[in-house]
Amino acid sequence: MSRAPGLAETLLFQEALAVAEHAYAPYSGFAVGAVAAGPSGRSHHGANVENASYPAGICAERAALAAFVTHHERELRYVAVAALDGSDCLPCGLCLQALSEFGDPELVVRRGGEVVVLRLSDLLTAPFAMPPGGADA
Ligand code: THU
Repeated sequence: MSRAPGLAETLLFQEALAVAEHAYAPYSGFAVGAVAAGPSGRSHHGANVENASYPAGICAERAALAAFVTHHERELRYVAVAALDGSDCLPCGLCLQALSEFGDPELVVRRGGEVVVLRLSDLLTAPFAMPPGGADA
């Protein structure tokens, strides 16, 4: 279900850690950075951005996804996620669903104190998908 990262994946995780420096997390104090990448190999960055109205905040993963899609990428291959304080940090359920729209990427995350690579579908086995024909079908 998970494996050790290779060099490129380790670098992607370190990049996510650097992105976490840019988080705006005055309420939780938990700064997170994420990097999304597709076949182009280009990195798209996101950090969590909190809000005084808590639900208006956004996680790092969805912030990175917005940058990824805005740059015309559609096929997610990798998403690296890192908490600035070195804690374990796996994407929340909402982010897993959002990411699943664009494929079944490998996730580079810290779990159990170690950086590991696993598949999104290992964590979210049954994402919602719109039925053929749309919501009215
Ligand atoms: N957070 C993320 O950005 N990504 C995760 O994977 C877990 C949680 C953020 C949301 C909130 O700003 C803070 O971390 C505490 O939950």
